[in-house]
Amino acid sequence: MSDLKFPPGFSWGVATSAYQIEGAAAEDGRGPSIWDTFSHAPGNTFEGHTGDVACDHYHRYEQDVDLIASLGVDAYRFSISWSRVQPDGHGAWNAKGLAFYDNLVDRLLEKGIKPHVTLYHWDLPQALQDLGGWGSRDTADRFAEYASVMGRRLGDRVATICTHNEPWCTAHLGHHVGQFAPGAKDPQLAIQVAHHLLLSHGKALQAMRAAGVKAPLGIVLNQSSVTAATDSQEDRDLAERQYASFVRWYMDPIFLKRYPTAPGLHLYPVMHENDFNEIAQPLDFLGINYYTRIWASAATPPVPAPNAMGANDMGWENYPQGLAELLVKVNRDYNLPPVYITENGYAGADRLVAGKVEDTQRIEYVRTHLEALQQAMEAGVDVRGYFYWSLFDNYEWNSGYAKRFGLVHVDYEDQQRTLKDSAHWYRDLIRKGR
Ligand code: FCB
Repeated sequence: MSDLKFPPGFSWGVATSAYQIEGAAAEDGRGPSIWDTFSHAPGNTFEGHTGDVACDHYHRYEQDVDLIASLGVDAYRFSISWSRVQPDGHGAWNAKGLAFYDNLVDRLLEKGIKPHVTLYHWDLPQALQDLGGWGSRDTADRFAEYASVMGRRLGDRVATICTHNEPWCTAHLGHHVGQFAPGAKDPQLAIQVAHHLLLSHGKALQAMRAAGVKAPLGIVLNQSSVTAATDSQEDRDLAERQYASFVRWYMDPIFLKRYPTAPGLHLYPVMHENDFNEIAQPLDFLGINYYTRIWASAATPPVPAPNAMGANDMGWENYPQGLAELLVKVNRDYNLPPVYITENGYAGADRLVAGKVEDTQRIEYVRTHLEALQQAMEAGVDVRGYFYWSLFDNYEWNSGYAKRFGLVHVDYEDQQRTLKDSAHWYRDLIRKGR
């Protein structure tokens, strides 16, 4: 561990998102979001779990900021619940919702922790979904307005603002696979949604810059390296197609003003003439979330990935080297701005026993990913910080509370927070690095 060295000024953080932790779903004027609707509909989530209470962070944010500070991190990434600050996604603003984020930011600053804000982590106001959601081009304009209001409100106090978190999940899991809100299963709609998300990102950056927002602005994309299972033409084509739909679908429009082509990619969105110019706004930073690689096997049944046995509780293969492969590749292909690793983490079958959680696999996961990160930085990738996902166990979307990613264990009966072994390890790592 002692050979892990990061440059002075490198930021160490933890990350969360609004719906996954806040609870207080119907309090102080918050409007419903698509995740409230989706999680309350039968059959969508593990045992019908919802984010109604989650980690009750809305009521406990002061102690939670103290908890964050106790980890020795200098950065915290969280998201704003759009329907808490603007219940219908257009029209009236909710003073109590705005005050919550003002107070959170001030509390973080008091404790010496840099706030990193995500504007959209999947919880579209239901009122906008009723008007067509991300399938409607107008939603991009609503988002730009929301971004400029939040940017003006918080932009002088926060370290970064990103527009979207993982638009691939919203588009693909939310509109093609139907596994996430709003639960649509329509591949052409998913492609159109991806386009509107990208457009809304570009419009939001322009709106925030026009409003004079000072914080560095960017986007957070989930990305993976790709490996073809064998050398066969089928596997290589599949690898190319999967990488194109996962990584290049978002990077090419932003950096190269085009959508990618690849064997077997047929669906493209309806576009207006100037859309790529709107989308391809310069980024002050790029956030990359990395969990695992894409393993492309066209065979039935598929050839298993080599490390599939060491997969985490989500079934995600543990492949740290992919982080270095990915970063070096995208840096070469797109000439990246400064990068933050905005998420990386491990879900384990954690057990709280006599006040302790021995999560050695999580420690190993983080350590090996930091080694890979260090390699990428030595190879010239300009990485400014690392955020562990997640600060604490929380509502893992359609998996409900069954998957635990936290450095901090949460007992959902009494909301007791307990530092896992990994939290102590992370704190020591950060302390030694300084
Ligand atoms: C990412 C999400 C985050 C969390 C982790 C496990 O895709 O951004 O909210 O669910 O995965």
